[in-house]
Amino acid sequence: MIVDKLGRRFRNLRVSLTAACNYACTYCVPDGKRLLKATNELSATSLLKGVALLQQAAGIDKVRITGGEPLVTPKFDEFLLGVMSIPLSDVSLTTNGQLLLKKKDIIQASGLKRINVSLDTLNPVRFKQIARGGDLKTVLNGIEEMLDIGLKVKINMVPLRSQNLGEVPAMLDYCLSRGIELRFIELMRMGHLLHSASFTNDFVSMEDLLNKIADHYTFARTDAPYDSTAVRYKISDKGIFGIIANESEPFCRACTRLRLSSDGYLYGCLSSANKSYIGDLINLPAHEALPKLQGLLVKSLGDKKLSFQGEVTVMKLIGG
Ligand code: 5AD
Repeated sequence: MIVDKLGRRFRNLRVSLTAACNYACTYCVPDGKRLLKATNELSATSLLKGVALLQQAAGIDKVRITGGEPLVTPKFDEFLLGVMSIPLSDVSLTTNGQLLLKKKDIIQASGLKRINVSLDTLNPVRFKQIARGGDLKTVLNGIEEMLDIGLKVKINMVPLRSQNLGEVPAMLDYCLSRGIELRFIELMRMGHLLHSASFTNDFVSMEDLLNKIADHYTFARTDAPYDSTAVRYKISDKGIFGIIANESEPFCRACTRLRLSSDGYLYGCLSSANKSYIGDLINLPAHEALPKLQGLLVKSLGDKKLSFQGEVTVMKLIGG
C-alpha cells in the first residue's frame, strides 16, 4: 500500500469515460463551446483493465464513473457492466441526467445502487442559461425513474450568486420531499474561472449558504465518513444535505481520490496538472504492469496538495 506523510492513500478512483459533454455549463466552459472527445480515448475494455490493475496496485475499492458526461459515450454500457462485476465496495455514477431515461434498462440490469445527478436549477429558462444544452423536464423525469427503480439519488448543485442562489430553498424542498441528499458544491476556481471576475462575483461561501438555509430550516451538523468530501447537515425528520466546501473547508488533507482520464492518464490531484500515462502499460501482463504502476502511483500521490488552489485544464476532462 502506498501511503504519504499525512497518511493519505488512494482508495476512490474516478474514471472519466469520455471528455465529451452534451452541456456547456457557464462555470465549466467559456463561450458556450462544447466539450469534445479527447484524442486517443481508451476503450471500455482498456479502462476496465486499468480499474482492475489500480485495485491491485493502489488498493482502490470505490469507483465513480464520470466524464465529461459519461452517458454520451457508447462505451458506457460495457464499462458499467464490467465495473459492476469487479468486487468493489462501492460503484457510483455522476451524470447530468439528460440521458438517464435512455440508459434506464442498462442501469437497472447492472445492479448499480446509486447515482449523483448534477442539477443547478428547477427553472427551465435558467436551466438553458446555465447548462446551455439539454432540457430540464427530461432530467427531472430521469430522476423520478431512477428513484422508481430503487436507486439512491444525490443531487449536486453549484450555487451561483448571479444565477440560482434564490433557488436554494426550492431545491432543498424538492430533494427533501424525495429522499434525495442535496449536495451544494462551492464554486471552484477551475478552468476559465481561475482568472475570471465571474468567480468572485458568483462564489457563494459555505457560511453564506448556511445562513440562507437557516432562514427556512433548522439543522445541525452530522457525521460524514472520514474521507468524505462533504460536510453534512441533518434537518430533523426531513433529511440530510451536504456542502462540498473546497474553499471554506477543504478536504485535501484527507483526500483519497485518484483519477483516470478517458485518454489514459492518472491524476493524483484535481488542483494539479501533473499526470502519468498508463494507457500503454494497461496492456502488459500484470507482473510487468504492476511495478511500473507502483512508481507512477508514488508520483501521483506526491502531487496531492494541502489546500485547493484551482487548476486551468483538469476539471472538465475528468469531471471533478
Ligand atoms: N466548481 C464547482 N463545481 C463544478 N462542477 C463542474 N465545474 C465546477 C466548478 N468550477 C460540478 C458539476 C458537477 C460536479 C461533477 O462538479 O456541476 O456536479
